[in-house]
Amino acid sequence: MTIRVGINGFGRIGRTYLRAAMDRVEEEPLDLEVVAINDIASPVTLAHLLSYDSTFGPLRRRVRHGDTAITVDGHEIAVSAERDPAALRWADAGVDVVIESTGRFRTRDSAALHLKAGARTVLLSAPGKDVLPPAVGALLQEGIDAAVILNALRALRVDRALRPALTPAVESLIHRFALEHADLQDVLDAVRDAAGRLSDPHGAEARAAVEEAHRLLTERLLPHEYAEEHELYPALAPALGGPEATTTMSRTHTEIERLSRRIATHLRLAHAGGGLVPEQLDDLRSCLYGLNTVLRLHFAQEEEGYFSLAADEGASPSGAKNG
Ligand SMILES: NC(=O)c1ccc[n+]([C@@H]2O[C@H](COP(=O)([O-])OP(=O)(O)OC[C@H]3O[C@@H](n4cnc5c(N)ncnc54)[C@H](O)[C@@H]3O)[C@@H](O)[C@H]2O)c1
Repeated sequence: MTIRVGINGFGRIGRTYLRAAMDRVEEEPLDLEVVAINDIASPVTLAHLLSYDSTFGPLRRRVRHGDTAITVDGHEIAVSAERDPAALRWADAGVDVVIESTGRFRTRDSAALHLKAGARTVLLSAPGKDVLPPAVGALLQEGIDAAVILNALRALRVDRALRPALTPAVESLIHRFALEHADLQDVLDAVRDAAGRLSDPHGAEARAAVEEAHRLLTERLLPHEYAEEHELYPALAPALGGPEATTTMSRTHTEIERLSRRIATHLRLAHAGGGLVPEQLDDLRSCLYGLNTVLRLHFAQEEEGYFSLAADEGASPSGAKNG
């Protein structure tokens, strides 16, 4: 049975969904059809923005518009301009699934207005508000971010046949840092563990876990990042085409240091005040979860982009301890 989709909010996400859905339907046995779009902008504007996208380039399909519909390669999609989802007529359009991509209806109650209008399922393009407890939401977001970026990294994987030649000294530096990544996995786990324990901030364990994570960061992780910045990246620069090649990764080093300093500031405040106070918890938790995410992505990027340049299979720790 064909899944009939309605898109509420035809902005960047709504348009990207339609582009991707039309491509996928052509490439795979996918029985799905976008039958309706609702957006407060006019059909002429929606058609124009669909046709010309500054990120994805021009749409290689013929787009036409009328007063109540746009047509893409002859396929007609009904267009409406209701601000209130409750006033939508998804049932009349036979919509099963609504992609809610206005960014405005993110609570359970407001998203459920689409169900009242006749849809069976609503998919939010942004994190739901009040749907998950903050810590679970943060963890889920972290997982999604990591999965998306790791998937994107596959496209950047270095072709073995095209590897630049490395000197034995650079190869051995890569091996050293790859091994350090494997050794540092427990530090990443400790940072994540400390963030999780803040859900019970009154337990003595919460502050002890943050103290321990901070000790591991200071004694082991930051020296590793410092050495990468000052030894590994300069050594790799000639093979990568110049020092600019590692600029983005250097910015991540700066962010890792910034978040570590912020965690240290929270601990200083806790020492001075005799413990963590409730006003600190949200920021401290987001520093720890944020740092954990940044570190995992940073490790993955270095392993994919830099460590894979070394000929020896043992250069990447992913087959050993790394998760
Ligand atoms: N752009 C991204 O990369 C990205 C990535 C992940 C999640 N998101 C999330 O997806 C949501 C949409 O993001 P976007 O970048 O597409 O935003 P956008 O501003 O480009 O699009 C929002 C669209 O909704 C329309 N709109 C506003 N109020 C409306 C209403 N009451 N009824 C119908 N249409 C209405 C606007 O006219 C606009 O076309 C946001 O919550 C955003 O956080 C965006």
